[in-house]
Amino acid sequence: MTNVSHPAPQVSQNEAVDIAMRHFGIAGTAAPLDSERDRNFKLTAPDHSLWILKIVNASEPLVESEFQTALFDHLERNSPDLAVPRLRKTVQGASLAHAKGPGGGDHAVRLVSWLPGRPLAESQTTPALLESLGSALGRLDRALQGFIHPGALRSFDWDIRQAGAARQRLHHIDDEQDRALLERFLDHFDAVVAARLPALRAQVIHNDANDWNVLVDPERPERVAGLIDFGDALHSVLIAEVAVACAYAILDAEDPIGAAARLAAGFHAEYPLREEELDLLFDLIAMRLVTSVTLSAARRDRTADNPYLSISEAPAWRLLRRLDRMNRRFATAILRHACGFEAAPGARAVTGWIAANRLQLAPILDRHPATLAKALVPYGDPHNPMTVTSAAQQPEKATAWWDAYCAEHGIALGIGPWGEARTVYTSDIFQSRFVEGARRANHLGLDLFMPAGTRLYTPLAATVRSVEIEEDPLGYGCLVALEHRPQGCPPFVTLWGHMAHEAGRRLKAGDCLEAGALVGEMGTPVENGGWAPHLHFQISTDTSLAARDILGVGEERYLAVWKELFPDAADLAGIPPETFRQNGRSRPEIVAARKASLLPNLSISYSEPIKFVRGEGVWLIDDRGRAYLDCFNNVCHLGHAHPDVVEAIAGQAAKLNTNTRYLHDAIVTYAERLTATLPAGLSVASFACSGSEANSLMLRMARSHTGRSEAIVLDWAYHGTTQELIDLSPYKYKRKGGKGRPAHVFEATISDSYHAPAEWPVDEHAKRFAESVAEQIADMARQGRAPGLFLAESIPSVAGQVFLPEGYLAEVYALVRAAGGICAADEVQVGFGRVGSHWWAFETQGVTPDIVTMGKPIGNGHPMAAVVTTSEIAASFNNGMEYFNTFGGNPVSCAAGLAVLDVIERDGLRRNALEIGNYLMARFKALQDRYDVIGDVRGQGLFLGIELVEDRKSKAPATALARRINDRVRARGVLIGTEGPHDNVLKMRPPMIFSRANADHLVGVVDETLAAVLAERA
Ligand SMILES: Cc1ncc(COP(=O)(O)O)c(C=O)c1O
Repeated sequence: MTNVSHPAPQVSQNEAVDIAMRHFGIAGTAAPLDSERDRNFKLTAPDHSLWILKIVNASEPLVESEFQTALFDHLERNSPDLAVPRLRKTVQGASLAHAKGPGGGDHAVRLVSWLPGRPLAESQTTPALLESLGSALGRLDRALQGFIHPGALRSFDWDIRQAGAARQRLHHIDDEQDRALLERFLDHFDAVVAARLPALRAQVIHNDANDWNVLVDPERPERVAGLIDFGDALHSVLIAEVAVACAYAILDAEDPIGAAARLAAGFHAEYPLREEELDLLFDLIAMRLVTSVTLSAARRDRTADNPYLSISEAPAWRLLRRLDRMNRRFATAILRHACGFEAAPGARAVTGWIAANRLQLAPILDRHPATLAKALVPYGDPHNPMTVTSAAQQPEKATAWWDAYCAEHGIALGIGPWGEARTVYTSDIFQSRFVEGARRANHLGLDLFMPAGTRLYTPLAATVRSVEIEEDPLGYGCLVALEHRPQGCPPFVTLWGHMAHEAGRRLKAGDCLEAGALVGEMGTPVENGGWAPHLHFQISTDTSLAARDILGVGEERYLAVWKELFPDAADLAGIPPETFRQNGRSRPEIVAARKASLLPNLSISYSEPIKFVRGEGVWLIDDRGRAYLDCFNNVCHLGHAHPDVVEAIAGQAAKLNTNTRYLHDAIVTYAERLTATLPAGLSVASFACSGSEANSLMLRMARSHTGRSEAIVLDWAYHGTTQELIDLSPYKYKRKGGKGRPAHVFEATISDSYHAPAEWPVDEHAKRFAESVAEQIADMARQGRAPGLFLAESIPSVAGQVFLPEGYLAEVYALVRAAGGICAADEVQVGFGRVGSHWWAFETQGVTPDIVTMGKPIGNGHPMAAVVTTSEIAASFNNGMEYFNTFGGNPVSCAAGLAVLDVIERDGLRRNALEIGNYLMARFKALQDRYDVIGDVRGQGLFLGIELVEDRKSKAPATALARRINDRVRARGVLIGTEGPHDNVLKMRPPMIFSRANADHLVGVVDETLAAVLAERA
């Protein structure tokens, strides 16, 4: 080992001039320079070139001097552009000269060029300069890759791998606390760091980029101009290069870890560091300081106070004290992040997994938070009374303000977003340990504000990590930490703060919780650290942190790092992103804009209209992040935004969309697939863009085939929006704005068994109601007319979800056909397996129509429609007039249609419709037993109606009640509708993917609403 206490060679200026002349042929002047071990002179040559003459300490083994010259030679050969000193050969052409010292010792001598620049020690350290230093070192070390020399394998106090030896110097530290501080770093080094060092990349490094060895360009102070003094170079771990440079460059920095991160990032850009290297950087910086202060103390004890030795001692102590207060995991996260690595290994996979699986998570609250009306708590506004009273630790006042706000705005759940800058964190615990003078003010959890006692459930299976009570004012109160290890996801921890102490008594570390199991309840201010009741819910992707070490609030500067360590828990808690961000126009603005630029009779649902911004499965999400259970819109047959359909549409649109004048596979495949779902005979398909268009086409076919325009429809039917279909829609022509029944249209009574005369035997309903059709035919006959068409929905919908009595269509079809007419089934609402038992609702009546029209669910939202008929009718329609429909049957529509058929079959959705439909029927019938106002419950598959009556005997329609129920069900986050001539039938047509849980949700809300509305009425 080098004897570092051996004094520097005593060589005079004159002797130096003489050595320079003799060995290097330079007749210059020499000025002495400071050096710890060697004797250095600045040499000015007659040509004004500047040099450093180094007379090496005689105690230094020659091999080390040779190593240095070899190193310079290597750089000269391989990286002539690097800003490092250049070696001047001796007059004999050698790299090293030798001179006898005054004591007779043999000294190696070398001459290197003087590099211009101002020492970093005398420069202003800026982030850009730190980065430049990092990149200068990165370039240097990249150039040194692969270089080796026996002299590089030195045993040396300054080799970071030897840093543990500082323990033997601890007795030189007088102050007990200082010693304890160093011991903490040494203990961690011995326990964790030392064992990992041998596995790291090693090579020759400079090893002493202290601020006197780094030169800054005075013209461009953000740039490092050169690196000097390779006296400490050795073969060691590469990361030591960065650690050593940091140990000096970040002394007294406002944000030392931030400064180290810039330096490391600069290095990384030139010479990519590895995660396992960065993971030790924090400790290696500290250990360089530990080495430095202990060596200084040892030498001070041995030598007469050498100011050079203790030059950086005081700032080193200051930095050590700061590092000691920091959490090394957080510091490491900052360093890793600066180099583009995850703040904690696996962090990005955790957030990715949660996002991909968010729909499978168990709800954290009794009712899924997505479905609740939400608002942000005002902690982002420092002047809001809730913020002010919370900061003043007056939780009762804060709670009262929030409760009043919720009552006024119908809010059920308050949200405190991730990342929000808040002024409520007034206590000392929120002082930053990283940035001098800064506070931690940005929220790193997700707050859910609900009344104390609100029960909270784990969204995923978990093991209890810890349960503790934190007593600090404005702390967590009862704090629970759970660990989750879902399949396919790195483990992560969730933190549950401000809980009732009950959880502490019930749970203990090691307990296993199923997904959906109770974690605890929101605590009162007495238990929860002195806050308005809420849950602080947080994820930590670093599972090594103890619950109390997890930062609940962080520095704004490091939000990007905290976002990976403690990602936003909104997805895990089931809070839709729309809760936090609104786009586009507000609801009133849209209403006003519609008034200004759209038809005034374009109807809007609800007196307080909803703005939806996203659909997902059975849910529609509004502009404030509330998810409504969609039990009304049957167009989204497979659920909103079904991925298969979206992909089919997008894929085909990206490839080709044209019209039926060109050949394409999709239209014929689709026609084959569609007709295969229908009874034999219904074999010819044609495509259109809307239900109305399909019915219009059907009408043309019927008229061509029969030569008659006379049609029989059922009362209160609706078949489309064109004039000829309005003429066939009593629901339109009989109501406001309608012109009454046209002469060619004949209206049969709606065959509504619930309202059948009491004296009719039930098994005669079909026959009795069919008589109304017979009467219309007779009426026509009296006018010398005959029916061309009988048109009916297979389950009349706008007439009030009316289920035709068994055998009704068979009776009617026979009558119509006997009179020379054809029969069409409008399956625009009820087709595509909605009834569950069959593909088509007419099949439940045991009939085969002559024409079937389809729309709404056919493309899961893509505007398309179809007409399927017999070859005979198709032949009649082929009367010489070409049929062309610009958009009908285009490749994109057919792709959508095919995807819908595929999904219905693949996912067994007809079976689901049947099972869930039966379940809903049973549950609604059970409600009927409890509520007299429910006159009738009817349904088939996922097509259901509940008729509300004032009196079960008279069956007087409870129209106002039905409207109120509809509104209040909406207020509870569920969409249904009202229908029927008296608008007293609750109408439900949920998507085919409706689950039992969705069914329970719907029934629960209807039940709750009925109870509440009836209680108000009482
Ligand atoms: C039974 C029935 N037929 C036809 C139509 C018309 O369909 P579209 O609105 O697609 O033109 C509707 C629309 O509500 C309908 O309910």
